[in-house]
Amino acid sequence: MLRAKNLIYLFLIFLLTSLFSFSQIIEGNPENGKTLFGNNCTACHYSGPEEMRKIGPGLHSHLLEKYTEDWLIKWIRNAPALTASGDPIAIEASQYDPSQMQSFTYLSDSDIKDILAYVEQDPTDFEKSSGTVDEVALTSDDSSSLSSTKELDLTTIITIIVILSGALIFLIFINNALRKGLNIQEGFLKGIKRLLFMSTTIKFLIVVFHVGIVVLLVLGWQSLSKIGIRQNYQPDQPIEFSHKIHAGMNNIDCNYCHQSARHGKHAGIPSVNVCMNCHETIYEGTNSGTEEIQKIYDAVCWDPDLRQYITDTDECQPKAIEWIQIHSLPDLSYFNHSQHVVAGGIECQDCHGEIEEMDVVYQKEKLTMGWCIECHRNTDINLDNAYYHLYDDLLEKHDVENLKVEHIGGLECAKCHY
Ligand code: HEC
Ligand code: HEC
Ligand code: HEC
Ligand code: HEC
Ligand code: HEC
Ligand code: HEC
Repeated sequence: MLRAKNLIYLFLIFLLTSLFSFSQIIEGNPENGKTLFGNNCTACHYSGPEEMRKIGPGLHSHLLEKYTEDWLIKWIRNAPALTASGDPIAIEASQYDPSQMQSFTYLSDSDIKDILAYVEQDPTDFEKSSGTVDEVALTSDDSSSLSSTKELDLTTIITIIVILSGALIFLIFINNALRKGLNIQEGFLKGIKRLLFMSTTIKFLIVVFHVGIVVLLVLGWQSLSKIGIRQNYQPDQPIEFSHKIHAGMNNIDCNYCHQSARHGKHAGIPSVNVCMNCHETIYEGTNSGTEEIQKIYDAVCWDPDLRQYITDTDECQPKAIEWIQIHSLPDLSYFNHSQHVVAGGIECQDCHGEIEEMDVVYQKEKLTMGWCIECHRNTDINLDNAYYHLYDDLLEKHDVENLKVEHIGGLECAKCHY
């Protein structure tokens, strides 16, 4: 009896202490953490479970079981230094991969706590989307992409106003001319008669008036229907980054910088740290000398002469590069990269054009609903897809030789609209 009671007490105490030691609570702002994680960590880590390896392990949920918060702050700020200092935990952690976790000397304690709060809290979209991870897509903030759409709307509106006021002036002019030519009081029939015998200049004006109205209507309609379409949109970027030099001449794989195109919804824009993987040593370009590359250093606070990060926050504050988003669908539609690139086997170039030949990226396609639908009508689904045998029934049902995307539901509204 007594022994059993003691055991229960012991068990309770054990439970309490273990709970206490495991449940460290991180106080941080996960929203901010998400942004910081997106800008700094996604190049090498998923926010998914530990087994989801990218370059480093997935960072969700195991960290606080394995490490203390203080240690994590030191590690994330400067893992190489912590390892070099002989810290046994760091030495063990650094065995994970031959490549090293880089330092983030510019992150403050509270930044790091925010990141930890984010990876702890977010159960990741990993389970939800069965194996793919939606990542924070763009380091550039949404406001920049918003402003570009606004600009377009504004120019359209101004064109319409100019057209309409032009039409009004023209109307008044014609009205006056007609009043002079016609005597309104003389009755309808007489008026028509007079019109027929009117001077040719006035007849000419009437024809011009009608043609003018038609032209204006067509122009107005065209500019209205262009709202939201950004074909050929080619903004100047904050750094003259050239795909031709990187993806073309130096043959760097698209996936090196846009890794998540294979894993998730968004292709993503690489964080500045990805640039630093090469530009820690490449500090001069053939075309722009040191000027453009210096902008990378300014963003991460790197001193190219001393070859180290500037840790004094008064001297330099790290910032994300605000790339201007070019391709963007409205919120009402759903588009997933990995579905097209991996399952569909479609090349980036089929939708984005020859990016590797562009010094400055522009939007080649219209990206309208009609564009999506047209390809879904005309494209065979990928035969290399491991699940293709599932479609055998569909082949019979539709009595076709090759299944197009439309046969597997590619024209259903709900597939592309939430
Ligand atoms: C350039 C790639 C790279 C980037 C960027 C990077 N890491 Fe890492 N990280 C690694 C590697 C590789 C490891 C495994 C340790 C090793 O081999 O040095 C690691 C390990 C870790 C660990 C230890 C995990 C464990 O279970 O042992 C944490 C925590 C971590 N990283 C957090 C971060 C955070 C937070 C960021 C963003 C601020 C970040 N990392 C950015 C490469 C990176
Ligand atoms: C060295 C890194 C790097 C490589 C390699 C790279 N890109 Fe990019 N990509 C970027 C950066 C940075 C941007 C944002 C700046 C810009 O638009 O030029 C970008 C922008 C883009 C955009 C426009 C994004 C938007 O805002 O809509 C597309 C599309 C794109 N890349 C496709 C590709 C394709 C396809 C390849 C391979 C042929 C490729 N990229 C290779 C870094 C890279
Ligand atoms: C995999 C290596 C690698 C990565 C990653 C990389 N670059 Fe480069 N970058 C190069 C090489 C190689 C050159 C060519 C240097 C030359 O002209 O000799 C270059 C040149 C440049 C130039 C100068 C071009 C010129 O000719 O003047 C700029 C600017 C630049 N890169 C920006 C970036 C930015 C921004 C990123 C991150 C989005 C980035 N790079 C990522 C390898 C890389
Ligand atoms: C089936 C057409 C299609 C293919 C194939 C495709 N893209 Fe895209 N891409 C799009 C569309 C549509 C958008 C706009 C997405 C949005 O706004 O949600 C986009 C956006 C992007 C962006 C801007 C950032 C983002 O994620 O929204 C980048 C970068 C990009 N694509 C790179 C790539 C790369 C690299 C590949 C090849 C690995 C690729 N794309 C293949 C259609 C495609
Ligand atoms: C270059 C051709 C092409 C273009 C352009 C294209 N798609 Fe697709 N899409 C495909 C292919 C191929 C598949 C089939 C992938 C597979 O095998 O699962 C597909 C599949 C899909 C699916 C899944 C359909 C299903 O039944 O599972 C959706 C959703 C989708 N696309 C949305 C879009 C949207 C939105 C756009 C326009 C912004 C677009 N696609 C543009 C080729 C294209
Ligand atoms: C293959 C993907 C796809 C399918 C299937 C699809 N849509 Fe769309 N839809 C889009 C895209 C992408 C846009 C945004 C186009 C743009 O910005 O011009 C859009 C835009 C729209 C709009 C906004 C008006 C416009 O043209 O901009 C409406 C309404 C709409 N779709 C209704 C539907 C209905 C109803 C269906 C089913 C019969 C459907 N869509 C099927 C991709 C799709």
